[in-house]
Amino acid sequence: MDPRAVSLIRSHLAAIAANPEGFAADYFARLFELAPSLRPLFGADLDAQSTKLAAMLDFVGRSLDRADLLTEPVSALGRRHAAYGVRSEDYVVVGHALLDTLEQRMPDFTEAARAAWAEAFVLLTDLMTTDLG
Ligand code: HEM
Repeated sequence: MDPRAVSLIRSHLAAIAANPEGFAADYFARLFELAPSLRPLFGADLDAQSTKLAAMLDFVGRSLDRADLLTEPVSALGRRHAAYGVRSEDYVVVGHALLDTLEQRMPDFTEAARAAWAEAFVLLTDLMTTDLG
């Protein structure tokens, strides 16, 4: 990815890390508004939900400038997601909820920032879902 795109995403990840619960609350509210059927995948415990989102964002952050090295771990992550009950089409709605939450909470969510996040998310999604058909 373009280094400017990487640094935009990293600055958002740092802002999210300063208040992860607030971000998670908005993200899950948006996700379950867009797709109530995904609610049962996540369990009832809000703290645990926040941890799951943090795991996802941490993965995004670590893969940014070395996606080529991550193919095997990311496919394995995709296979675990299939076992959790996640379907390929669910990635679209999760990406949508993530971009909406970023737009709502980040004061500097420019077109360039949206494009950077969308690129990073699609890159990971492609690697996570190639095996799944
Ligand atoms: C770029 C896309 C995604 C990334 C990088 C990602 C990353 C992660 C990571 C790192 C975990 C921690 C558990 C593990 O390593 O297996 C996790 C858990 C989880 N993810 Fe994702 N995820 C993504 C997309 C999705 C989508 C589309 C869904 C569908 C709703 C989803 C649902 C879940 C659930 C339900 C768990 C928790 C499983 C459990 O603890 O029982 N994720 N995700």
